[in-house]
Amino acid sequence: MRLILLGPPGAGKGTQAEIISENFKVFHVSTGQLLREAVRKSTKIGKEAENYMKRGELVPDEIVINILISKLKEDNIGQNFILDGFPRTENQAIGLDKELKSFGKPIELVLYFNTSDEVAIQRLSGRRICSKCGANYHIVNRKPRIEGKCDKCNSDLIQRDDDKPEVVKQRLKVYKKQIEPLLDYYNNKNIVEELDGNKKASKVFLEVEKILEKRNLVR
Ligand code: AP5
Repeated sequence: MRLILLGPPGAGKGTQAEIISENFKVFHVSTGQLLREAVRKSTKIGKEAENYMKRGELVPDEIVINILISKLKEDNIGQNFILDGFPRTENQAIGLDKELKSFGKPIELVLYFNTSDEVAIQRLSGRRICSKCGANYHIVNRKPRIEGKCDKCNSDLIQRDDDKPEVVKQRLKVYKKQIEPLLDYYNNKNIVEELDGNKKASKVFLEVEKILEKRNLVR
């Protein structure tokens, strides 16, 4: 299956991508994760991206398209993947379609997690991530076994710089500007399914499963 997950910051895209990936053995690609890794390693791309990310702005299309396409090619995953956080602009969507043409495997489904600002803000303010492997937690909704430590690698959990309230406000603003054209783009292809992103993660996943079955994407 080739899926795109859309929704505001805090909609649970990363969380659902992880669950879908585990259940259906599909590769999960998050441009946010790829960019954070580049920042951590202080690569050329990381240095360019860092300032945009800190401000809650989108990283320029050329940078993100390149990093995503390289990943798809590097891991040879053009057949089956979940894209989380990409595309963010119509330009990125067009760039992706062009590239997928060369694989002959277009996007099959776009899951749109419609989520309220209140829920998104509550989730982001409590999110903690592993400083080493990037695993995702929440101080109330998804607690680690040992407070402040990653279940997977025992490293320290930290708050993302862009989860601070003033940056979250800006990220939501940027999202609201971009989402309509993007939904129009994929609605024209009849591949969008909307879900209520405000529900518990397990309930959201039940909905996801139903949609995947309805669309014959569970193989
Ligand atoms: P990115 O990392 O993609 O962030 P985002 O899209 O803002 O999404 P988030 O990761 O904040 O939220 P999510 O929907 O994945 O929620 P999650 O599952 O973690 O991008 C970061 C930055 O990188 C951007 O601002 C931009 O600068 C740059 N960037 C990335 N991609 C780009 C692109 N394509 N173009 C340009 N720039 C780009 O859940 C959040 C919390 O809630 C967690 O703690 C989780 O445990 C909890 N939770 C999740 N689901 C539920 C639920 N159903 N119920 C209760 N709790 C839940």
